[in-house]
Amino acid sequence: MPLDRLALQGLRNFSSLELSPGPRINVFVGENGTGKTSLLEGIHVLGMGRSFRTRQLRNAIAHDASELLVHGRLAGDPPVPMGVRRHREADELDMRLSGEKVGRVSDLVQTLPLQLINPDAFRLLEGSPSGRREFLDWGVFHVKHDFLDTWKRYRRALKHRNALLRHGRMQDASMASWERELAHWGNRMDELRRAWLDAFLPVFHETLDGLIKLPDLELRYARGWDRKRDFAQVLEQARDTDQQMGFTQQGPQRADLAIRLGRRPAIETLSRGQQKLVVSALKLAQGRLLERLTGLSCVYLIDDLPAELDEGRRRIFCEWLVHMRCQAFITSVDPGALMEQWDPGTPVSMFHVKHVEVGQGQLLPMDR
Ligand SMILES: Nc1ncnc2c1ncn2[C@@H]1O[C@H](COP(=O)(O)OP(=O)(O)OP(=O)(O)O)[C@@H](O)[C@H]1O
Ligand SMILES: [Mg+2]
Repeated sequence: MPLDRLALQGLRNFSSLELSPGPRINVFVGENGTGKTSLLEGIHVLGMGRSFRTRQLRNAIAHDASELLVHGRLAGDPPVPMGVRRHREADELDMRLSGEKVGRVSDLVQTLPLQLINPDAFRLLEGSPSGRREFLDWGVFHVKHDFLDTWKRYRRALKHRNALLRHGRMQDASMASWERELAHWGNRMDELRRAWLDAFLPVFHETLDGLIKLPDLELRYARGWDRKRDFAQVLEQARDTDQQMGFTQQGPQRADLAIRLGRRPAIETLSRGQQKLVVSALKLAQGRLLERLTGLSCVYLIDDLPAELDEGRRRIFCEWLVHMRCQAFITSVDPGALMEQWDPGTPVSMFHVKHVEVGQGQLLPMDR
């Protein structure tokens, strides 16, 4: 379901801003520092309960405001209002869905599936495995309904085993039972991730192929422990070394999705533009698979789409977005760069973000 209303208060340079996004492609153009990324940040806060620019959401609160508030409405019958509020002094988020207070971010995530493509998305290639696990688990979470429960049970058992390790209670009777739990839920996580990946890979390669020819590019899943060994055995045999480290060293919490080109990590070879296309293909394929398996479409947040892409690639990227029938929020500093990409008939709403106009009031689409 697309967002048909968005209101931001006390976020970065916005004291108060309202807009009615179009159901499909929304383009925000404007000079540096006018608030384009902040707009995407607001939608991210609404759907994920956190910013993509700062770990501390309080840093996104406008300097002269005491709180930030993001409100959105998903089109539908009935429409679904969503809201997130964060007070400077409060430790907790106030999250609302259809007028009711909700306690878990996962409720927002499930209601408004988001995919973000921005310079941080390059971390999928160059960063630590945690970003790639997050990517993998986003997909599994949205299509396998027992994943969240499985993950929580696994985390609980992991916490208990780690506590026993730290306190040197290796012979404790509960150790074996927590290890059994850990092995059970760990194997289940691995199964769910694998099943999702089997469905994802063909969609990814098809999407990538449309953007750029990289026949040697490969995604390689590592489950977090030896491929040939049973997880329960691995845990039992690793007790001593785990105790020395003070935590459980192997398991699905260490899984990775290595992205390789031939025999090397892809990041060592790909140009910046090629990296952006690979990352974009990963993110576009997530949305395509979600749609295929659940009928839900996700909302794309794409910061500075034209950067690093040649004209032909921009066009193909935009064609995928149109083809997927998703809602997208795209920013650019260059108004010309995204004018001609769309086939006639594609519903595109263009917004010009200007300091004065967006600081307060309504942001209206401009004539194209
Ligand atoms: N906490 C804050 N309170 C008030 N203003 C802030 C805060 N944090 C950032 N800003 C300002 O908000 C403005 C919008 O920043 P934003 O990053 O959204 O701009 P942008 O349009 O994406 O720019 P660019 O084209 O350079 O990427 C900037 O002028 C920035 O200095
Ligand atoms: Mg920006």
